[in-house]
Amino acid sequence: MTSTFEIDFEPIGKRVDVAADSNLLDAARQAGIGLASVCGGEGTCGRCRVVIMSGKVSAPVDADRRFLSQLELSSGQRLACRCHVHSDVKVHVPKASLVTDQRLQVNGVARQMQIEAAVHAYEIEVPEPTLYDLRSDLDRVIDALETMHGQRKWFAEPAVVRTLSALARRTARAPSGPPTQSVGYGQAAWHLTVYARGHELVGFEAPGRKPIGFAADLGTTKVAGYLVDLETGEELASTGVMNPQIGYGEDVISRMVHATRNDDNSSELARVIREAFNVMIGSLAEEAGVSRDQVVEACIVGNTAMTHLLLDLPVHQLSVSPFVAATSTALDVKARDLQIELAVGAYVHVLPCIGGFVGADHVAMILGSDLDRKPYVAIGVDIGTNTESALLKPNEKTLTSASCASGPAFEGAHIRDGMRASTGAIEAVKITDAGVQIKTIGDAPPVGVCGSGIVDAIAEMYRSGVINNRGRLNREAASVRKNEQGWEFVLASADISGTERDIVITQSDVNEIQLAKGAISSGLETLMAATNTAPEDVEEVIVAGAFGSYLDLDSALAIGLLPRLPNAKYVQVGNAAGVGAKMALLSLKERQRAQQIMKRTGYIELTTQAGFNSRFAMSMLFPKNNPS
Ligand code: FES
Repeated sequence: MTSTFEIDFEPIGKRVDVAADSNLLDAARQAGIGLASVCGGEGTCGRCRVVIMSGKVSAPVDADRRFLSQLELSSGQRLACRCHVHSDVKVHVPKASLVTDQRLQVNGVARQMQIEAAVHAYEIEVPEPTLYDLRSDLDRVIDALETMHGQRKWFAEPAVVRTLSALARRTARAPSGPPTQSVGYGQAAWHLTVYARGHELVGFEAPGRKPIGFAADLGTTKVAGYLVDLETGEELASTGVMNPQIGYGEDVISRMVHATRNDDNSSELARVIREAFNVMIGSLAEEAGVSRDQVVEACIVGNTAMTHLLLDLPVHQLSVSPFVAATSTALDVKARDLQIELAVGAYVHVLPCIGGFVGADHVAMILGSDLDRKPYVAIGVDIGTNTESALLKPNEKTLTSASCASGPAFEGAHIRDGMRASTGAIEAVKITDAGVQIKTIGDAPPVGVCGSGIVDAIAEMYRSGVINNRGRLNREAASVRKNEQGWEFVLASADISGTERDIVITQSDVNEIQLAKGAISSGLETLMAATNTAPEDVEEVIVAGAFGSYLDLDSALAIGLLPRLPNAKYVQVGNAAGVGAKMALLSLKERQRAQQIMKRTGYIELTTQAGFNSRFAMSMLFPKNNPS
């Protein structure tokens, strides 16, 4: 009897052999296909739709029927995570079920700063051994360093020493200039670049090789990475990739649940993200024309769950109330202990986190946006599946953070035609007398609607009377109709869409957005109330992060996603967390500042604050006096 079956994923053209009765989501993971799985394979998100083209599979279950109509089921559509294979199977993967090809935010506002990196490069000349000078290779390097740069307690680990002897002999040549303190007339010498982190030698290279650093903002969905010259601060290359852990669950909770099922799962989650870093560093180094061995320091920030999963720290306690981190201090870990391929002795520095829900990326956002140094009352907010915010009161020298679960609606999840910000996503909407006008990413035929498009659409629907302030669809309005699943508003009709189906905003989509925006604005209002901050006291609202940088602020204010504060200017700063990661890479002082931010920042648990629930209920409504 056959114990494995071949699964053929089309139109991707990938084939994989899996054990009999495996489910198609696991098969897709095995094939390296980024199949959408917001819930991590629990059968509760409906995003992993595939079409069975041929072969035998298990019968539909309740989860299939919850997300797929009878017509869709009879045309072969199934949820991959609920579908077990009973023979060789050919599967069609619709574009909308893939998580690749996303618009990724890697840039933030550039910053001026003093550079004081953890690793320095020293160019040295080392006299070659002779019968009269039998010092070891490492001793003569250390002696040369001491002669040239003073008495210091230099040392190196065996793994670093291992790279020295052959390299040093490859660099041997007679000195061209006058004798130096190390080398006399005519004596052959090694010429080396030595990378030192404090007293520790972390790598050796040929002469003239600059020290390079790698900074990364490790997001739940996206990873932004940068290669930076550690002497000048110049950014040499940058890129953004999807976090490959997404195949194990799109939000932090489902990934942590997966990790806690067994040790193999948590090692697997660590392995896939470390591998992604290795690929990223390799391509960045190639683009910048430097060697991987020149990358002598890394600085990584991320939310608390992401840094824990990267470091393979336990996450069970982080996934259940009261949600505590295994550690919140800044960490220096040998890159090779994480199987991250940099210079052999390089370290990875992970910034401190504030709490279970307020991670190193939040500290980096404060650092990168200079929120802690504003001379007036200011708020920083980074909108995502979890929205973190911080409020600064300089006169009281306080910085207070809060976090709210705003859900993945702005990432396109739980929205009927929602999708991430990739090609074909509707990103802007206008409703005029002539009808609905849309703009898509890449000007491609529309295939769904991304976060900024949903906010725009809802703002326009509210402004034009398609929904009332309670979010109810006006059944008389143009383009509003009823189908078997309820009332909906047609954004783009099948004849222009890339999916050959109408793209719609349903009544339940509107309600999802009300929940998400209610969580964010009531969170900000509760943060202000808890710190005795009146709306007119706030002079700046800094909107950070990928979603925040594409958001239309007028639309966000119109639907009450952000509160209207009478004296505040609203500023979009892009990926401030990535900027903060680069700052901490380039400066030990900035690392100290991050530590101070961590110590100084108080955390309030919103749900325990008086009035939060009533504010949340009120914030679900759309603002009545809408000036737009
Ligand atoms: Fe299959 Fe969520 S329903 S991954």
